[in-house]
Amino acid sequence: MSKSIHSYGLYRLKLEIKNLLKQFLRIQSKPKRDKLLINEIYENIRQQKFENLDSFATPKDYLFDLPYKDQDGRIRYSLLNNKLVDGKTNEVALMILEIIEGIMINSSCEYVVELGSGGGKNLLWFASKYKDIKFIGLELNKTSVDLANTAAKKFDIQNVEFYQCDLTNTHEYKRFLTKKTFIYSHHTLEEMPRIYKIPLNEIKKSDVEIVALLEPIFMFSFSRIILDLAKRLRILNKDRLIGLKKFSKRELSKYFNIELVDLGLGVKPENPTTLLLLKRK
Ligand SMILES: C[S@@+](CC[C@H](N)C(=O)[O-])C[C@H]1O[C@@H](n2cnc3c(N)ncnc32)[C@H](O)[C@@H]1O
Repeated sequence: MSKSIHSYGLYRLKLEIKNLLKQFLRIQSKPKRDKLLINEIYENIRQQKFENLDSFATPKDYLFDLPYKDQDGRIRYSLLNNKLVDGKTNEVALMILEIIEGIMINSSCEYVVELGSGGGKNLLWFASKYKDIKFIGLELNKTSVDLANTAAKKFDIQNVEFYQCDLTNTHEYKRFLTKKTFIYSHHTLEEMPRIYKIPLNEIKKSDVEIVALLEPIFMFSFSRIILDLAKRLRILNKDRLIGLKKFSKRELSKYFNIELVDLGLGVKPENPTTLLLLKRK
Protein backbone atom coordinates (compact mmCIF):
# COMPACT_ATOMS: atom_id res chain seq x y z
CA MET A 1 0.00 0.00 0.00
CA SER A 2 1.19 3.50 -0.78
CA LYS A 3 2.38 5.71 2.09
CA SER A 4 0.40 8.74 3.22
CA ILE A 5 1.93 12.20 2.95
CA HIS A 6 2.05 12.38 6.77
CA SER A 7 3.89 9.08 7.31
CA TYR A 8 6.38 10.07 4.60
CA GLY A 9 6.66 13.50 6.23
CA LEU A 10 7.40 11.86 9.58
CA TYR A 11 10.09 9.66 8.02
CA ARG A 12 11.73 12.75 6.46
CA LEU A 13 11.38 14.78 9.64
CA LYS A 14 13.16 12.08 11.70
CA LEU A 15 15.91 11.98 9.09
CA GLU A 16 16.39 15.76 9.18
CA ILE A 17 16.35 15.88 13.00
CA LYS A 18 19.06 13.18 12.98
CA ASN A 19 21.09 15.20 10.47
CA LEU A 20 20.68 18.34 12.53
CA LEU A 21 21.87 16.54 15.66
CA LYS A 22 24.85 15.07 13.81
CA GLN A 23 25.79 18.54 12.63
CA PHE A 24 25.30 19.94 16.11
CA LEU A 25 27.50 17.22 17.66
CA ARG A 26 29.95 17.69 14.78
CA ILE A 27 29.64 14.03 13.68
CA GLN A 28 28.61 15.34 10.28
CA SER A 29 29.70 18.64 8.80
CA LYS A 30 27.20 21.12 7.38
CA PRO A 31 27.72 21.50 3.64
CA LYS A 32 28.55 24.97 2.40
CA ARG A 33 26.82 25.29 -0.93
CA ASP A 34 29.45 27.22 -2.85
CA LYS A 35 30.50 26.93 -6.49
CA LEU A 36 33.22 24.41 -5.67
CA LEU A 37 30.82 21.99 -3.99
CA ILE A 38 28.19 22.42 -6.72
CA ASN A 39 30.71 21.76 -9.44
CA GLU A 40 31.90 18.62 -7.66
CA ILE A 41 28.35 17.25 -7.17
CA TYR A 42 27.32 17.75 -10.79
CA GLU A 43 30.66 16.60 -12.19
CA ASN A 44 29.98 13.10 -10.83
CA ILE A 45 26.32 12.97 -11.86
CA ARG A 46 26.93 14.20 -15.42
CA GLN A 47 30.05 12.05 -15.93
CA GLN A 48 27.84 9.01 -15.30
CA LYS A 49 25.18 10.24 -17.69
CA PHE A 50 27.84 10.86 -20.33
CA GLU A 51 28.92 7.22 -20.03
CA ASN A 52 25.29 6.12 -20.57
CA LEU A 53 24.55 8.52 -23.43
CA ASP A 54 24.41 5.71 -26.02
CA SER A 55 21.54 4.07 -24.15
CA PHE A 56 19.20 7.04 -24.85
CA ALA A 57 17.59 6.70 -28.28
CA THR A 58 15.48 9.91 -28.25
CA PRO A 59 15.35 13.24 -26.34
CA LYS A 60 12.34 11.76 -24.54
CA ASP A 61 14.43 8.82 -23.22
CA TYR A 62 17.13 11.30 -22.28
CA LEU A 63 14.61 13.43 -20.39
CA PHE A 64 12.74 10.64 -18.63
CA ASP A 65 15.64 8.80 -17.10
CA LEU A 66 14.44 8.77 -13.50
CA PRO A 67 14.37 5.15 -12.33
CA TYR A 68 11.55 3.66 -10.24
CA LYS A 69 13.92 3.07 -7.32
CA ASP A 70 16.74 5.18 -5.94
CA GLN A 71 20.40 4.09 -5.60
CA ASP A 72 19.65 2.36 -2.28
CA GLY A 73 16.82 0.34 -3.80
CA ARG A 74 14.06 2.41 -2.15
CA ILE A 75 10.94 3.30 -4.12
CA ARG A 76 11.04 6.87 -5.38
CA TYR A 77 8.04 8.85 -4.20
CA SER A 78 6.91 12.09 -5.71
CA LEU A 79 4.27 14.73 -4.97
CA LEU A 80 1.29 14.98 -7.29
CA ASN A 81 -1.60 17.34 -6.46
CA ASN A 82 -0.25 17.41 -2.90
CA LYS A 83 -0.55 13.62 -2.62
CA LEU A 84 2.30 11.17 -2.23
CA VAL A 85 2.55 8.85 -5.25
CA ASP A 86 5.02 6.16 -6.22
CA GLY A 87 6.24 5.17 -9.67
CA LYS A 88 5.20 8.51 -11.22
CA THR A 89 8.44 10.45 -10.97
CA ASN A 90 8.77 10.93 -14.71
CA GLU A 91 5.11 11.99 -15.05
CA VAL A 92 5.59 14.64 -12.37
CA ALA A 93 8.79 15.85 -14.08
CA LEU A 94 6.82 16.17 -17.34
CA MET A 95 3.97 18.09 -15.66
CA ILE A 96 6.46 20.66 -14.37
CA LEU A 97 8.00 21.00 -17.84
CA GLU A 98 4.54 21.46 -19.34
CA ILE A 99 3.98 24.42 -17.02
CA ILE A 100 7.18 26.03 -18.34
CA GLU A 101 6.14 25.15 -21.90
CA GLY A 102 2.73 26.83 -21.47
CA ILE A 103 4.31 30.08 -20.27
CA MET A 104 6.89 29.92 -23.07
CA ILE A 105 4.26 29.53 -25.81
CA ASN A 106 2.16 32.38 -24.43
CA SER A 107 5.17 34.68 -24.29
CA SER A 108 5.63 34.54 -28.13
CA CYS A 109 9.38 34.58 -27.55
CA GLU A 110 12.12 34.07 -30.13
CA TYR A 111 14.75 32.98 -27.63
CA VAL A 112 14.59 30.86 -24.50
CA VAL A 113 17.31 30.88 -21.86
CA GLU A 114 17.56 28.28 -19.12
CA LEU A 115 19.58 29.38 -16.09
CA GLY A 116 21.59 26.36 -14.97
CA SER A 117 20.70 23.99 -17.81
CA GLY A 118 22.52 20.96 -16.36
CA GLY A 119 22.80 18.07 -18.82
CA GLY A 120 20.40 19.93 -21.11
CA LYS A 121 17.46 17.55 -20.87
CA ASN A 122 14.77 20.24 -20.51
CA LEU A 123 16.07 22.39 -23.38
CA LEU A 124 16.65 19.42 -25.67
CA TRP A 125 13.06 18.36 -25.09
CA PHE A 126 11.70 21.85 -25.87
CA ALA A 127 14.07 22.40 -28.81
CA SER A 128 13.03 19.09 -30.41
CA LYS A 129 9.41 20.34 -30.36
CA TYR A 130 9.78 24.06 -31.23
CA LYS A 131 12.11 24.38 -34.20
CA ASP A 132 11.45 28.12 -34.74
CA ILE A 133 12.69 29.12 -31.32
CA LYS A 134 16.38 29.38 -30.42
CA PHE A 135 17.24 27.78 -27.07
CA ILE A 136 20.24 28.73 -24.94
CA GLY A 137 21.53 26.89 -21.89
CA LEU A 138 23.82 28.56 -19.34
CA GLU A 139 25.60 26.17 -17.02
CA LEU A 140 28.49 26.25 -14.54
CA ASN A 141 29.75 22.69 -14.87
CA LYS A 142 31.85 21.99 -17.96
CA THR A 143 31.09 18.27 -18.13
CA SER A 144 27.36 19.10 -18.09
CA VAL A 145 27.82 21.54 -20.96
CA ASP A 146 29.86 19.01 -22.97
CA LEU A 147 27.24 16.35 -22.27
CA ALA A 148 24.39 18.66 -23.37
CA ASN A 149 26.17 19.70 -26.59
CA THR A 150 27.06 16.06 -27.38
CA ALA A 151 23.44 14.99 -26.76
CA ALA A 152 22.22 17.80 -29.08
CA LYS A 153 24.48 16.43 -31.83
CA LYS A 154 23.41 12.84 -31.17
CA PHE A 155 19.71 13.76 -31.45
CA ASP A 156 20.42 16.15 -34.34
CA ILE A 157 18.86 19.15 -32.60
CA GLN A 158 20.26 22.32 -34.12
CA ASN A 159 18.28 25.14 -32.49
CA VAL A 160 19.99 24.81 -29.10
CA GLU A 161 23.37 25.90 -27.71
CA PHE A 162 24.89 25.34 -24.31
CA TYR A 163 27.50 27.65 -22.80
CA GLN A 164 29.69 27.16 -19.81
CA CYS A 165 29.25 30.19 -17.59
CA ASP A 166 28.86 31.16 -13.98
CA LEU A 167 25.57 33.01 -13.52
CA THR A 168 27.27 35.48 -11.21
CA ASN A 169 29.46 36.64 -14.14
CA THR A 170 26.63 38.53 -15.79
CA HIS A 171 28.82 40.08 -18.52
CA GLU A 172 29.22 36.57 -19.97
CA TYR A 173 25.54 36.24 -20.85
CA LYS A 174 23.79 39.59 -20.65
CA ARG A 175 23.74 39.75 -24.47
CA PHE A 176 21.06 37.04 -24.35
CA LEU A 177 18.70 39.05 -22.13
CA THR A 178 16.55 40.73 -24.78
CA LYS A 179 12.91 41.76 -25.08
CA LYS A 180 12.26 38.62 -27.15
CA THR A 181 13.79 36.28 -24.59
CA PHE A 182 11.85 34.12 -22.18
CA ILE A 183 13.96 33.06 -19.19
CA TYR A 184 13.35 30.21 -16.81
CA SER A 185 15.14 28.28 -14.11
CA HIS A 186 14.37 24.81 -12.88
CA HIS A 187 15.90 23.99 -9.47
CA THR A 188 19.03 26.05 -10.14
CA LEU A 189 18.71 29.07 -7.86
CA GLU A 190 18.24 26.62 -4.98
CA GLU A 191 21.91 25.71 -5.50
CA MET A 192 22.95 29.37 -5.24
CA PRO A 193 21.85 30.35 -1.71
CA ARG A 194 24.01 33.45 -1.31
CA ILE A 195 24.45 34.48 -4.93
CA TYR A 196 21.06 34.03 -6.64
CA LYS A 197 20.36 37.78 -6.45
CA ILE A 198 23.16 38.54 -8.92
CA PRO A 199 21.48 37.03 -12.04
CA LEU A 200 18.06 38.28 -10.90
CA ASN A 201 19.31 41.85 -10.54
CA GLU A 202 20.82 41.64 -14.04
CA ILE A 203 17.50 40.40 -15.45
CA LYS A 204 15.71 43.24 -13.63
CA LYS A 205 17.91 45.79 -15.45
CA SER A 206 17.42 44.10 -18.84
CA ASP A 207 14.52 44.25 -21.34
CA VAL A 208 13.33 40.72 -20.55
CA GLU A 209 9.55 40.67 -20.12
CA ILE A 210 8.79 37.24 -18.70
CA VAL A 211 10.70 35.08 -16.25
CA ALA A 212 9.54 31.81 -14.72
CA LEU A 213 11.45 30.54 -11.70
CA LEU A 214 10.57 26.95 -10.90
CA GLU A 215 12.30 26.55 -7.58
CA PRO A 216 11.57 24.88 -4.24
CA ILE A 217 10.46 28.11 -2.58
CA PHE A 218 9.15 27.37 0.90
CA MET A 219 5.34 27.38 0.93
CA PHE A 220 3.53 26.26 4.03
CA SER A 221 0.28 24.32 3.96
CA PHE A 222 -1.57 22.72 6.90
CA SER A 223 -2.46 19.75 4.70
CA ARG A 224 1.27 18.92 4.47
CA ILE A 225 2.30 20.19 7.89
CA ILE A 226 4.78 17.41 8.85
CA LEU A 227 6.35 17.25 5.40
CA ASP A 228 6.64 21.06 5.34
CA LEU A 229 8.47 21.03 8.69
CA ALA A 230 10.87 18.40 7.33
CA LYS A 231 11.29 20.51 4.19
CA ARG A 232 12.21 23.59 6.23
CA LEU A 233 14.75 21.65 8.26
CA ARG A 234 16.21 20.14 5.06
CA ILE A 235 16.75 23.62 3.62
CA LEU A 236 18.75 24.57 6.71
CA ASN A 237 20.68 21.28 6.97
CA LYS A 238 21.64 21.27 3.29
CA ASP A 239 22.36 24.99 3.05
CA ARG A 240 19.78 25.51 0.33
CA LEU A 241 18.26 28.71 -0.97
CA ILE A 242 16.12 30.72 1.42
CA GLY A 243 14.59 34.18 0.96
CA LEU A 244 13.72 34.23 -2.76
CA LYS A 245 10.08 35.10 -2.03
CA LYS A 246 11.01 38.07 0.17
CA PHE A 247 13.71 39.26 -2.22
CA SER A 248 11.30 39.20 -5.17
CA LYS A 249 8.67 41.18 -3.30
CA ARG A 250 11.19 43.71 -2.01
CA GLU A 251 13.47 44.14 -5.03
CA LEU A 252 11.56 42.99 -8.10
CA SER A 253 7.94 44.02 -7.50
CA LYS A 254 8.66 47.58 -8.69
CA TYR A 255 9.51 46.21 -12.13
CA PHE A 256 7.43 43.04 -12.42
CA ASN A 257 3.99 41.76 -11.52
CA ILE A 258 4.68 38.74 -9.37
CA GLU A 259 2.67 35.54 -9.21
CA LEU A 260 3.56 32.84 -6.71
CA VAL A 261 1.94 29.43 -7.22
CA ASP A 262 2.19 26.46 -4.88
CA LEU A 263 2.00 23.73 -7.54
CA GLY A 264 1.59 20.78 -5.15
CA LEU A 265 4.09 18.98 -7.42
CA GLY A 266 7.54 17.65 -6.72
CA VAL A 267 9.83 15.07 -8.25
CA LYS A 268 10.96 14.72 -4.62
CA PRO A 269 8.13 15.33 -2.13
CA GLU A 270 10.57 16.90 0.35
CA ASN A 271 11.76 19.34 -2.31
CA PRO A 272 8.63 20.37 -4.25
CA THR A 273 8.55 22.93 -7.03
CA THR A 274 6.92 26.35 -6.71
CA LEU A 275 6.32 28.72 -9.61
CA LEU A 276 7.45 32.32 -9.24
CA LEU A 277 6.31 34.13 -12.36
CA LEU A 278 7.61 37.62 -13.17
CA LYS A 279 5.85 39.70 -15.83
CA ARG A 280 7.31 43.12 -16.66
CA LYS A 281 5.00 46.02 -15.66
C1 LIG B 1 19.50 20.73 -9.77
S1 LIG B 1 20.46 21.06 -11.19
C2 LIG B 1 19.18 21.43 -12.33
C3 LIG B 1 19.61 21.32 -13.75
C4 LIG B 1 18.52 21.58 -14.77
N1 LIG B 1 17.93 22.89 -14.58
C5 LIG B 1 17.47 20.50 -14.74
O1 LIG B 1 16.31 20.79 -14.44
O2 LIG B 1 17.79 19.35 -15.05
C6 LIG B 1 21.15 22.67 -10.85
C7 LIG B 1 22.13 23.12 -11.90
O3 LIG B 1 22.50 24.47 -11.64
C8 LIG B 1 23.87 24.63 -11.98
N2 LIG B 1 24.43 25.79 -11.28
C9 LIG B 1 24.56 25.96 -9.94
N3 LIG B 1 25.18 27.13 -9.67
C10 LIG B 1 25.43 27.74 -10.88
C11 LIG B 1 26.04 28.97 -11.27
N4 LIG B 1 26.56 29.80 -10.36
N5 LIG B 1 26.10 29.27 -12.60
C12 LIG B 1 25.60 28.41 -13.52
N6 LIG B 1 25.01 27.23 -13.21
C13 LIG B 1 24.92 26.89 -11.91
C14 LIG B 1 24.48 23.31 -11.51
O4 LIG B 1 25.75 23.08 -12.06
C15 LIG B 1 23.41 22.31 -11.93
O5 LIG B 1 23.63 21.81 -13.22
